Amino acid sequence: MDIISSLTDMQSRCLAERAAGKRIAFVPTMGFLHEGHASLLREGRRRGDVLALSIFVNPTQFGPSEDLDRYPRDLERDLAIARDAGVDLVWTPTPAQVYPPGYATWVNVEGLTDVLCGASRPGHFRGVTTVVCKLFNVVQPNVALFGEKDFQQLAVIRRMTADLDLPVEVVGMPIVREADGLALSSRNVYLSADERRQALAIPSALARARALAAAGERDGAAVLREVRAMIEAMPDARIDYVQICHRATLAGQARIDADSVLLLAVFVGRTRLIDNGPLLAGA
Ligand code: PAF
Repeated sequence: MDIISSLTDMQSRCLAERAAGKRIAFVPTMGFLHEGHASLLREGRRRGDVLALSIFVNPTQFGPSEDLDRYPRDLERDLAIARDAGVDLVWTPTPAQVYPPGYATWVNVEGLTDVLCGASRPGHFRGVTTVVCKLFNVVQPNVALFGEKDFQQLAVIRRMTADLDLPVEVVGMPIVREADGLALSSRNVYLSADERRQALAIPSALARARALAAAGERDGAAVLREVRAMIEAMPDARIDYVQICHRATLAGQARIDADSVLLLAVFVGRTRLIDNGPLLAGA
């Protein structure tokens, strides 16, 4: 496994791999890897001749009052996970390489970013799409893998990739959960034991919503009422949003159908957790 920090070295190496006819699979991350990232890497290993991983805590996707400074980092552990997953190239650029002095260019996907996390975290998706576009330009991947836990992020990246004619296949991979249902996230490390217990209201509410839909409930407001009540029963939980949206357009839906996805963002203590899931089986 080669560990490369220089942006230009990474770009020449990837261009050389492509010129040699190799197919590059790419998993962009902010590090502090967990089993969710490992599942992306395993799928990437299957899909590419060369498996590339980037580890970069992207400052431009954090708001001024967010957790950039305390975002968890553990490069040694990340490298061990990468090695186990069969990664060939790890790229660890610095913010100064990605955003040199005078940096002034931004990629902005309109519409899809106005809602959900885009409404709660102004500028967040502009940072995500800008960095992902730049990472794609350096790594030149044939295929890039992202987790469905960041459901809106995946939709926005798919839109950007299509709109900018980027020759990259974007693959979404299922959410990986702990045995008790909590979706894996690098931010789970912030939770105290008690907050961790309260956070289980999120997957429980998702399961309840699915059960209601499976029993024939099609009124979105009725489902959202139950979901909210389950989360609000937790003393340290504060709902940022709970919405039922169309899976592709992210438009809010009053009636549940095969395209409906329930999306949640909930603060548990100071930690903001997101989760989602389709409401009808097979959707
Ligand atoms: O999902 C993430 O970890 C980040 O948003 C990403 C896609 C690596 C961009 O910084």
